[in-house]
Amino acid sequence: MPDPMSAARKGPRDAAFGSICVEKVEKIYESDRGTVRALSDIDLSIERGRFVTLFGPSGCGKSTLLRVIAGLEEQTAGAVSLFGQTPAEASRDKNIAWIPQSNALLPWLTIRDNVLLSQKINREAERRGKSLRIPEDPDQVLDELKLGDFKNARPSELSGGMRQRAAIARGFVQGAPLMLMDEPFSALDELTRDALRLRLLTVWERHRKTVVFVTHSAFEAVLLSDQVVVMTPRPGRIHSVIDIDLPRPRTFEVTETREFEQLVRAVKHTLRDGWEADE
Ligand SMILES: Nc1ncnc2c1ncn2[C@@H]1O[C@H](COP(=O)(O)OP(=O)(O)O)[C@@H](O)[C@H]1O
Ligand SMILES: [Mg+2]
Repeated sequence: MPDPMSAARKGPRDAAFGSICVEKVEKIYESDRGTVRALSDIDLSIERGRFVTLFGPSGCGKSTLLRVIAGLEEQTAGAVSLFGQTPAEASRDKNIAWIPQSNALLPWLTIRDNVLLSQKINREAERRGKSLRIPEDPDQVLDELKLGDFKNARPSELSGGMRQRAAIARGFVQGAPLMLMDEPFSALDELTRDALRLRLLTVWERHRKTVVFVTHSAFEAVLLSDQVVVMTPRPGRIHSVIDIDLPRPRTFEVTETREFEQLVRAVKHTLRDGWEADE
């Protein structure tokens, strides 16, 4: 009998059941101003369908790690496997949806066309036979993100929060099994941010894509995640991975429970612990 695990490590089709594996990754930036060791000895394994957050202070290498996973930056040592593919292969086959901090939409297209564009690009990758995406209905996702009435508007007609919601909608509609989000709410005001965190929770709990999310808010990390990866700076290392076993679906009420407060405190303490160990 063939070993099912070895099949899962091989082709992209079987690897649909696999996971994300970051092994001994190191990233050194060389520039005119010298050498920066941004990441060192990063080992991380993420199960399919989990919401995992990289948490740590500014400059600890969160964005660098996310960009390495996305294939936007090449590591100087180590390896990354995304459901059996390299980041470059996964990116070529549109198996990664990247959601930036802001300005993700094309200004000359309507919201619906912006969202549909990602599906068109995906079909190209599908024709080559290596896409792992599961198509999502754009109108349903736009409704879930409360953008149903703004499908025909252009990005300039929307508030910052709505534009960011549209960027998230586009990510889900793209149908990629892996969504990468680098502080997607950081450009928004606090109230909008709270509303968007809950929207993202609701939509994610329905679609269950694998998400790697970056934040420097302990509150946001605990509210959204299955696991919080706490990083320490100089060079960025993983201090520990904290399981967030709060029940799902989660609502804002969960943030008022003792368990939630304890988890936020634990995440913050772990971070401080990492800083002190570093000094
Ligand atoms: N393109 C680059 N060239 C040189 N140094 C960089 C580059 N990008 C990031 N760095 C450095 O790498 C470290 C980690 O940065 P980054 O990944 O952006 O951290 P974070 O997202 O946690 O704030 C920082 O010291 C930063 O200055
Ligand atoms: Mg960053």
